[in-house]
Amino acid sequence: MKHEPLFEIFLQATPGLEVVLRDEAIAMGFRKAKATAGGVRFRGRWSDVWRANLMLRGASRVLVRIAGFQAMHLTQLEKLAGEVPWARYLRSDVPVRVEVSTRQSKIYHAGAAQERVERALTACGFSVDQEAEVSVRLRIEENQCVVSLDTSGELLHKRGYKAAIGKAPMRETLAALFLRAAGFDGKEPVLDPMCGSGTFVIEAAEMAMGLAPGRARSFAFEKLATFDAEAWGEIVSKTVSNKAENAYFGSDRNTGGIEAAEANAERAGVSDCTRFSVGSVSDLQRPEGPAGLVIANPPYGTRIGDRRGLQALHGALGKTLKERFGGWRVAIVTTEESLARATGLPFQLPGPPVAHGGLKVRLYQTNPL
Ligand SMILES: C[S@@+](CC[C@H](N)C(=O)[O-])C[C@H]1O[C@@H](n2cnc3c(N)ncnc32)[C@H](O)[C@@H]1O
Repeated sequence: MKHEPLFEIFLQATPGLEVVLRDEAIAMGFRKAKATAGGVRFRGRWSDVWRANLMLRGASRVLVRIAGFQAMHLTQLEKLAGEVPWARYLRSDVPVRVEVSTRQSKIYHAGAAQERVERALTACGFSVDQEAEVSVRLRIEENQCVVSLDTSGELLHKRGYKAAIGKAPMRETLAALFLRAAGFDGKEPVLDPMCGSGTFVIEAAEMAMGLAPGRARSFAFEKLATFDAEAWGEIVSKTVSNKAENAYFGSDRNTGGIEAAEANAERAGVSDCTRFSVGSVSDLQRPEGPAGLVIANPPYGTRIGDRRGLQALHGALGKTLKERFGGWRVAIVTTEESLARATGLPFQLPGPPVAHGGLKVRLYQTNPL
């Protein structure tokens, strides 16, 4: 395995946070990782692909590029797709699914292109099933085709422990990237005063303990011809975790959210260092111990009538933090600058817009208060 040639690995990121994911990849040992639109790329081997899936908190999925060619029409696409060395990667006993996107190309009909690639795969002895866990992705841009394998399967924010979700939960991958963007390095306490099902708090606790985010799930790469169970077992056995030095706090006025957060923390194995309580932001107390990071994604109003209540909520949050959280940094994820401003907190310039639940959000953060 050591001597196999390097190939291109692409980590899909939430658009807007590519640079943050690149920094995580570099810190994880993928030293030459480069940020690009929609993700991060670097060259590596299968062991890197497995480790990226297991260890990276911010990647939405890990793709491996297996072929590239130019195709101007469907017949040509089918012919060239038939020349891809599929058997190197795919198993004839495991069905595959094909997904196509096309942009500014002579081949403009993604469905027709998908059919051609499926035909090529079938002709090479592979079975195609739209429900298959293993997927082949074809991206056509300006007539250039890139064929990749999705090595993750289910998106990587599905850590495998979160059975209970609250209202408007944040994806774990996004929460992890915002924590990193807010300067969290696992060495300080974190508090989310509107924690819902506890995503920020649990991610922070896991980061502090060095737990592998993919430890409780399976991956599509386990079904590829390139999988080596023994080498994978070695990678998994090398992961180590430690006891957290700090505590990770979450509160919310919604009892159902807190029950979900407690159940999720228990399943994730971080309940020794997490503390959840029901309460409103105005009743928030500063925890004993060192200062750290307050991070939250407060509700955003999509209806006009919500505005006044939201401004008041943000005002109450800012007032409590200014009065009781001297020395702590504050980071909030919100859709509107006016809501961030309503807190009265001294935010620096916000981060770039990031897609979340059909909206664009930004991270607003302060220096220590
Ligand atoms: C967008 S959700 C946060 C979701 C959370 N990050 C997650 O991943 O599950 C906003 C949360 O703010 C809570 N909330 C709204 N007003 C509050 C208040 N006055 N005090 C405390 N929590 C409040 C809601 O109950 C809701 O759980």
